[in-house]
Amino acid sequence: MKIGVIGTGYVGLTTGICLAELGNKVCCVDKKKRKIEDLKKGKIPIYEPGLKELLDKNKSRVSFTTDTKKCVESAEVIYIAVGTPAKPTGEADITQIEEVSRDIAGVLNDYKVIVEKSTVPVKTGEWVKRTIKLNVPQEVDFDVVSNPEFLREGSAIDDFLHPDRILLGVESKRAKNIMMELYKPLNAPFVITDIKSAEIIKHAANSFLALKISYINAIANICELVNADVISVAEGMGYDKRIGRQFLDAGIGYGGSCFPKDVSAFIKITEEFGYDFELLKIVEKINREQRKNFILKIKKSLWILKNKTICVLGLSFKPNTDDIREAPSIDIIEALLKEGAKIKAYDPAAVARTREIFKEIDYKDNPYDAASESDALLILTEWDEFKNLDLKKIKEVMHQPIIVDGRNIFDPKKMAEMGFTYASIGR
Ligand code: UDX
Repeated sequence: MKIGVIGTGYVGLTTGICLAELGNKVCCVDKKKRKIEDLKKGKIPIYEPGLKELLDKNKSRVSFTTDTKKCVESAEVIYIAVGTPAKPTGEADITQIEEVSRDIAGVLNDYKVIVEKSTVPVKTGEWVKRTIKLNVPQEVDFDVVSNPEFLREGSAIDDFLHPDRILLGVESKRAKNIMMELYKPLNAPFVITDIKSAEIIKHAANSFLALKISYINAIANICELVNADVISVAEGMGYDKRIGRQFLDAGIGYGGSCFPKDVSAFIKITEEFGYDFELLKIVEKINREQRKNFILKIKKSLWILKNKTICVLGLSFKPNTDDIREAPSIDIIEALLKEGAKIKAYDPAAVARTREIFKEIDYKDNPYDAASESDALLILTEWDEFKNLDLKKIKEVMHQPIIVDGRNIFDPKKMAEMGFTYASIGR
């Protein structure tokens, strides 16, 4: 099929390239000229393992342009994959959705399926439909479909090509058949529902995952008070198929461009419809407190932070991505700088993006230089590279062997045997 994808961020780019991998002809649109120029040269603006190779493999089927009209006119299915960032008040900013809906309406020349791919508050589908109806020049038939994505950064391609389910919120048989035809090669189960339910499923699923993380972090805080081990607790809970072991890793909390934004948007949108989502407010509160608790843990190990040299290993919000949006590292570094600490930092992928925020940090290109002469070493992201550190060498280069581990990547017993003062989460 001929596909148009509007918005070339994590979701739009991955969706477009993977749809090309399935044999479709895809045209990707973005208003940022520079980004489109780079993409035309095969330069991927995001760190997503395997995406560049997949684009190279499908370059004959993928085109990039800033011209929405050109894309929409030839497409049978058009994906709206623009950003819906959180406003300072917490609600989702869907101005780009409205703009794109008007752009599409202006060039709609025959029947098309308009797919809401971005994560949007419930009832946005109705607004998209209304906006297009109001702005379409002549009587043209179209359908809106809600098709939320469940891609995780760092594993986006695999998540797209092997989804747990394909979620379609539809209002017509015609649109349903077109979308099922498009996704047929994935051989994945379909969940077919109405548009509003599909929009709710996305927010409800992400908020539930965030809740699960805040829950295990609360359990970790209890374990610290009674000297229990949260990893064993998570293991013991996880054997119950109704709970599952995944997303029960205690740490310094969740970050990224989705969970924080989706939880706050869900609270706001449900408030608008008259429901006070107190449960999610507690999820947010626990997540914020995990960062504060971590600073207290560092003070407990180091006492005074002023003029101390602290090595930060891990800046991205999670491994295998360069994304630092809402990463715990940002709040933690900010608090340490405020206390007058000196920071040396290393991350396999996120240094460039962090340097844009913190100029005063001494960035290194390897963990050992970052650790040398430091008074404490913090693990903020559980990159495999850090799990395989030569700890003997780390101990030699550090000023004093203090490690505060925000992602529980080391074994406390082994660290004690090696002579480290080692603190972690919930153990
Ligand atoms: C998430 C959802 O998983 C995905 O389905 C949705 O489409 C987008 O948002 P993403 O934010 O890319 O994906 O990463 P994810 O792997 O879900 O981790 C989110 C955050 O939770 C990270 O900060 C991670 O460190 C944290 N996390 C995850 C934990 O703290 N503990 C866990 O057990 C799991």
